[in-house]
Amino acid sequence: MINKQEAEAKLKKYGQEHLLNHFETLSEKKQKELLGQIEEIDFELVNNLYKNADKIDTSNDEISHMEYSDKYKLNDEYKKYEKIGEKAIKEGKLAAVTMAGGQGTRLGFDGPKGAYDIGLDSHKSLFELLCDNLKEGEKKYGVKVPWFIMTSEENNEQTIEFFQKNKFFGYQKDKNIFFFKQGQLPMVDTEGKILINEEGVIKLAANGHGGIYEALVKNGMIKKMKELGVEWIFIGGVDNCLAKMVDPLFVGMAIDKQVTVACKSVVKDNPHEKVGVFCKRNGRPSVIEYSEITDEMAEAVDENGELLYGESNLLCNLFNIDAVERMGSLPLPYHIAYKKAKYIDKDGNLVEPDSPNAYKFESFLFDTFGTLDEMLVLRVKREEEFAPVKNADSAGVDCPSTARALYEKYHKLI
Ligand code: UTP
Repeated sequence: MINKQEAEAKLKKYGQEHLLNHFETLSEKKQKELLGQIEEIDFELVNNLYKNADKIDTSNDEISHMEYSDKYKLNDEYKKYEKIGEKAIKEGKLAAVTMAGGQGTRLGFDGPKGAYDIGLDSHKSLFELLCDNLKEGEKKYGVKVPWFIMTSEENNEQTIEFFQKNKFFGYQKDKNIFFFKQGQLPMVDTEGKILINEEGVIKLAANGHGGIYEALVKNGMIKKMKELGVEWIFIGGVDNCLAKMVDPLFVGMAIDKQVTVACKSVVKDNPHEKVGVFCKRNGRPSVIEYSEITDEMAEAVDENGELLYGESNLLCNLFNIDAVERMGSLPLPYHIAYKKAKYIDKDGNLVEPDSPNAYKFESFLFDTFGTLDEMLVLRVKREEEFAPVKNADSAGVDCPSTARALYEKYHKLI
């Protein structure tokens, strides 16, 4: 590991010397941790992200409509796809990945979001509801789909403890459940200076759900999947309690149509719903944020009266394993998010801000879609597959009470 002098020289080069200001007051363990961080971090990248992250210019991108298939208009093909997918699932070619590394700031729950109880009579957590979905697959197809859970440095320990406490929901830890951590990047203040956390070391934050690819490769999860004979990977968020992770139709369609990536969509609730929608960007698959779309585009319809930009992104994706491996080595663009972050100031005092004060850098899962020639978008029904838990109940939308109602309605519990 580098020593203090070497660390000083490295930091000076990038204008981040303040990180060693309180080095002498740290315990030996924390000093080592800080030096290790300084050795590891790509400061050039961080400085460049700060300088350029809000300058990603999409104004000249050519946006056009993205074709999609409607699950309920597949007619005779439906059975054919289902059969193909069922065969692949029964042969053990499917794995499920749950991205659970997010901070869940909007929900405001003190713990991993997956541990959240949405208030069902059963009091099952989001993790358990997802696991139920895998168990249902086991019942139908006779195979335990292996479950890979991405955590972050921040919530990894708590997540594993939660699973231990719940005896892995009876889904056999050693054989079927695997945890891995996503990557991190330093948070910086409005001047581009890296923050120091409460423990006196560099304040790091998860690098967004786009970190999934690199994390799957770097942590040996792709290797593990290959050993298990996996060819297709379902990747979804932790917060959709109606996600169908073992879906033969979805798998069969991707195989039959020979795409390497397939995504599910639901039609927008109204033209101005604040969601990202599938589109083509410069002729390639993409997702466009609601903030990037003009009112005219949001309201535009085709000859059947369907919204041209109406397929909202559920974060329910199916990837061919080779595509994920390739994406794991792609440099992704980073987006900047302005967040509240506690830190130690230059006088050694802990600052707990009431409003955002720091930048966090995140890449998005769909940032890789532009590398694909083709991608399948499958429109499904909202009431069957989408019950997100994003906000606290006070928001009234995409919150525990709305998700609970959707879940109960779908499972006919009410
Ligand atoms: P969101 O973007 O909704 O973020 O993540 P979030 O962390 O749940 O909530 P907010 O924005 O802080 O309120 C969608 C999915 O991607 C995962 C989340 O755990 C969720 O399942 N995610 C997000 C990660 O795994 N890592 C990240 O760095 C970000």
